Amino acid sequence: MKIQTCRVSQWFLLFLISSCSCSCSFAAAQKKKTYIIHMDRTNMPQAFDDHFQWYDSSLKSVSDSAQTLYYYNTVAHGFSTRLTVEEAKLIEKQQGILAVIPELKYDLHTTRTPEFLGLEKSVSFFPASVKVGEVIVGVLDTGVWPELESFDDTGLGPVPVSWKGECEVGKNFTSSSCNRKLIGARYFSKGYEAAFGAIDESQESKSPRDDDGHGSHTSTTAAGSAVTGASLFGFAAGTAKGMAAEARVATYKVCWLGGCFGSDILAAMDKAIEDGVNVLSLSLGGSSPDYYRDNVAIGAFSATAQGVFVSCSAGNGGPSSGSLSNVAPWITTVGAGTLDRDFPVYVTLGNGKKFTGQSLYNGKPLSDSLIPIVYAAHASNSTSGSLCLTSTLNPAKVAGKIVVCDRGGNSRVQKGLVVKDAGGAGMILANTETYGEEQLADAHLLPAAAVGQKTGDAIKSYISSDANPTATISAGTTRLGVQPSPLVAAFSSRGPNLLTPQILKPDLIAPGVNILAGWTGGVGPTGLDSDKRHVAFNIISGTSMSCPHISGLAALLKAAHPDWSPAVIRSALMTTAYSTYKTGEAIQDVSSGLPSTPFDIGAGHVNPTAALDPGLVYDATIEDYFAFLCALNYSSFQIKVISKKDFTCSGNKNYKLEDLNYPSFAVALETPSTKGGGEGTAPTTVKYTRTLTNKGAPSTYKVSVTSKSPSVKIMVEPESLSFAKPNEQKSYTVTFVASAMPSGSESFARLEWSDGKHNVGSPIAFTWT
Ligand SMILES: *[C@@H]1O[C@H](CO)[C@@H](O)[C@H](O)[C@H]1NC(C)=O
Ligand SMILES: *[C@@H]1O[C@H](CO)[C@@H](O)[C@H](O)[C@H]1NC(C)=O
Ligand SMILES: *[C@@H]1O[C@H](CO)[C@@H](O)[C@H](O)[C@H]1NC(C)=O
Repeated sequence: MKIQTCRVSQWFLLFLISSCSCSCSFAAAQKKKTYIIHMDRTNMPQAFDDHFQWYDSSLKSVSDSAQTLYYYNTVAHGFSTRLTVEEAKLIEKQQGILAVIPELKYDLHTTRTPEFLGLEKSVSFFPASVKVGEVIVGVLDTGVWPELESFDDTGLGPVPVSWKGECEVGKNFTSSSCNRKLIGARYFSKGYEAAFGAIDESQESKSPRDDDGHGSHTSTTAAGSAVTGASLFGFAAGTAKGMAAEARVATYKVCWLGGCFGSDILAAMDKAIEDGVNVLSLSLGGSSPDYYRDNVAIGAFSATAQGVFVSCSAGNGGPSSGSLSNVAPWITTVGAGTLDRDFPVYVTLGNGKKFTGQSLYNGKPLSDSLIPIVYAAHASNSTSGSLCLTSTLNPAKVAGKIVVCDRGGNSRVQKGLVVKDAGGAGMILANTETYGEEQLADAHLLPAAAVGQKTGDAIKSYISSDANPTATISAGTTRLGVQPSPLVAAFSSRGPNLLTPQILKPDLIAPGVNILAGWTGGVGPTGLDSDKRHVAFNIISGTSMSCPHISGLAALLKAAHPDWSPAVIRSALMTTAYSTYKTGEAIQDVSSGLPSTPFDIGAGHVNPTAALDPGLVYDATIEDYFAFLCALNYSSFQIKVISKKDFTCSGNKNYKLEDLNYPSFAVALETPSTKGGGEGTAPTTVKYTRTLTNKGAPSTYKVSVTSKSPSVKIMVEPESLSFAKPNEQKSYTVTFVASAMPSGSESFARLEWSDGKHNVGSPIAFTWT
């Protein structure tokens, strides 16, 4: 699995390594790897006294030397261990074994946000702090830096009595590292150490302490206490606070310098549920071939069944389509957008032209006088010289100059270090087509400006047209009120959902660009070894940053409405999200400059105040998810791996994926195979049934449909629904009559129920394959 920030290129590397497990497994049949052994606990052979004895005996029968890494009791039944491929095949044949699944590797994928989300203006709508203090947000990440002021517990009441967690002691982490804010801290390293070797304690702490920064950032974004006078070097100055500033935090460290491993993640989710968290936040993901093999999806199923809301990052694979992770329909999948805040610097060229870029560099600025500027491609012998990869710049050609580097290949801050090490005076970081006009600010180690593709092209053409090109870069500032905002971040992973095209993902977007939140004392803001600066707050970007915004907001909704199920909370967040600006124009995609679609933003951008009072919601019970698994044609073993329950799909029921009571619609249509584009073929008719639950006063709602899809007729029956009581349920059917379209076509529509006070909106996406 992978942490989902856009900060460090090593995660890309990890992704490449892990993709090998599909194609290179022939390499060493005798090599051991970690497997999760899912056991059919209700069918334990009678010879055994307890499950552990049974699990151990199963393991011993195939390997004398194998040790159990973890026993799983809550989100999974079974254990994890290291086995050869042969041993794994042997154990799979034994009685009572549901599945033997190789562990997946996962990668890790704020001051302004409360105002931007309208939380400050509508304080009176939100639940009292005492109620928020009853909610516990569990964060699976790189741990925490407990000394941060963001974990100050002043003013918080006693730890909720329901809490059963612990503050695990370890390297540089004591029982007094926890308090009434950070109420629990655990670490899970057995899977990591089995795969990677013993933790090098000179590099990272074998304890819940965060040596990376990612986990401190995500947990304080979700539920950090308010800290006045926060900033990064004076940038983004203000009061920093998490979305649910009075909620409690419990940290589960599962990600280490070499990545995050499935056996550790599953063990952490197991414990988190037993400990009593209400919300789980996971800013990490992997590429999973199926739900029953994905530890996050498995853990999240049991969490959801027990009323725990699970929010996950969508991934940083954008703007490519079909780049999502964490698409299980019981997970809330979060993409990223920009704020109305940026950090401009001004680039002046020798020809008098001025351009705007972004930077969080805080050292001595360049002087106003112009100095030579060079394009890295002209100052390197390497074929990819324009990328400023380590030791590829020719010092003789860059010394004392501003160097233009192209984005991609290594991390953005690394490029600055490469220029600095080669003797460069400054850097312009130019987007290529992939990133369009997206501008991410970083705490560079030298004067720098990140610029969009158009600006980068203009600067490069000036360099090649002038015999002695010159430039300078101004000092940086913080700018508020930038419009339009939000924009969809270029890196935010996009639909369609390749695993289940009938479920629209991502579910929604939240702030994930240039977010200020707490940081580790272990490394500087760039995370580079040579960065000796220490900061209490850092500004970073990724869907890793947007996910904990939704986790914290879910905690607020849970505090306001303790009886709401995870599906109701998600529905409230989705149906009240906005997909247009106040002007009525669709939220823009920064990578293309075009209007976004539901494949970019799902239901839209979160609007927390509206989510408190959604009017109607689409609830889903665990039985609904079972029906979904039946519609996937999963075997009873596969269903049991995910759910730990015996569930037999009924032979005479027609299970359909599109029948899951989801707050959005994805309609997967087939292009007829006949040559000639299917002209004259009969239209396809698809029906979706949905059930609404009233969470407001008695009211009558009318439906309206707006469509950008002339090739699909949309009919809703009935067109009006009256609710006389709270929690009353009413169903409706949407019929889509679609003409044939060329394969690869997409189009979109929106369905909205309104009683004049509440607008309950759902996006609709059509794809033809
Ligand atoms: C241990 O924690 C303290 C803060 O209490 C910190 O100053 C120190 O750098 C940490 N040491 C390591 C090795 O992480
Ligand atoms: C690049 O090539 C030139 C000419 O062949 C050579 O003098 C120089 O040392 C090379 N520079 C690097 C950084 O490899
Ligand atoms: C499940 O099986 C049925 C019957 O064979 C088939 O029509 C359907 O497409 C399958 N569904 C999935 C998701 O594979």
